[in-house]
Amino acid sequence: MKAVVYHGAFDVRVENVEDPTIQHPLDAIIRITTANICGSDLHPYEGRAEMDSGMVIGHENMGIVEEVGAGVERIKVGDRVSVPFNLACGSCRNCNDGYTSACLRANPSGMPGAGYGYPMMGPYWGGQAELLRVPWADFNLLELPQGTEHENDFTMLSDIFPTGYHGTELAQVSPGKSVVVFGAGPVGIMAAHSAMLRGASQVFVVDKESDRLALAERYGATAIDFSKVDVEEAVLDLTDGFGADCGVEAVGYQAHDAAGDEHPEMVLDNLVRTVRATGHIGVVGVYNPVDPHAATDEAKKGRIAFDFGTAFTKGISIGTGQCPVKKYNRELRDLIIRGRATPGDIVSHEVSLDDAPDAYDKFDKRVDGYTKVLLRPSA
Ligand SMILES: NC(=O)c1ccc[n+]([C@@H]2O[C@H](COP(=O)([O-])OP(=O)(O)OC[C@H]3O[C@@H](n4cnc5c(N)ncnc54)[C@H](O)[C@@H]3O)[C@@H](O)[C@H]2O)c1
Ligand SMILES: [Zn+2]
Ligand SMILES: [Zn+2]
Repeated sequence: MKAVVYHGAFDVRVENVEDPTIQHPLDAIIRITTANICGSDLHPYEGRAEMDSGMVIGHENMGIVEEVGAGVERIKVGDRVSVPFNLACGSCRNCNDGYTSACLRANPSGMPGAGYGYPMMGPYWGGQAELLRVPWADFNLLELPQGTEHENDFTMLSDIFPTGYHGTELAQVSPGKSVVVFGAGPVGIMAAHSAMLRGASQVFVVDKESDRLALAERYGATAIDFSKVDVEEAVLDLTDGFGADCGVEAVGYQAHDAAGDEHPEMVLDNLVRTVRATGHIGVVGVYNPVDPHAATDEAKKGRIAFDFGTAFTKGISIGTGQCPVKKYNRELRDLIIRGRATPGDIVSHEVSLDDAPDAYDKFDKRVDGYTKVLLRPSA
């Protein structure tokens, strides 16, 4: 099959590799109809997260079931399915508690949590390819209505729509709350969309990329351009001096200032300043325990020096971590089917698998409005 293969920093190539096969009775093979490039893929792409050369990349996958192992009973050949980016066994203690993001059995390294085509998430190949092997298929796969309708919306169910939603869950967004979201990338925009769906009274989205801020406004948010205004002043002004009830971090360890210089503590500091006393913060942007290319020696060891003193004094709660996609994807799917959610509106480019290297380059440079790229391996 054809696949996008990782060879090192700024080097992904479309190559012919072995077709995946059923290796265990609970496996399924999916023919990929859509695989998205994610902001998280840029971490290995930029050489900021170590990944084995030769690995097929891609964790945002959907498609049609091509083959199932002898032990698969619920999922059938021909089903249209979304593949959550968390790869989970379904029977360990964390899976039983709903934390498929911290499965204790799927990652042979012993680390909690596994995934497809991603650093430290196990040996599993990704889905930026014609075919994908899915272990524990009955547990992991989410069925979708047959056909091709809502393809661009459903493809957001594997990661960023549930992840944005998870940010609002950690931030305890409920009807009437005010919400400040940092980052107008796909995850931040999905957090803003989710906050609206949960009945927020106002949602602010902070970034400096004007095309992304415009997209956030299309989802009903108020844009705040941090390169033009003081974010703390802006949020306090808009909330009668109180600050927002809830804050979502959708930027991660590469947070930077208007000039582009990295300050990994910058967004956490801004959240502590703009969320009111006793408010809640959800951090879904990624922070790593080791980051050899970080801006400071402390950050190289994963130690992010943000204003925890003020966070404590204000009594702010902070939730963090990978999204357990299965906790939300069924309900989010149904919001799409019933016309209440439209996550696919963020798609900026739809390209063939052959164009993936060019799309990575442009998405990484944030040129030509590259916000969310979909690959169509069967095109
Ligand atoms: N927790 C999870 O399960 C999970 C899942 C998917 C993605 N993620 C992570 O979420 C983060 C966002 O993902 P994405 O795909 O939207 O990434 P992205 O890189 O496309 O977007 C990040 C945005 O943050 C903006 N930004 C940078 N510095 C900022 C600052 N100081 N203030 C405000 N905005 C700033 C950038 O301009 C950019 O638009 C990444 O760290 C990604 O790895 C986490
Ligand atoms: Zn992703
Ligand atoms: Zn498990």
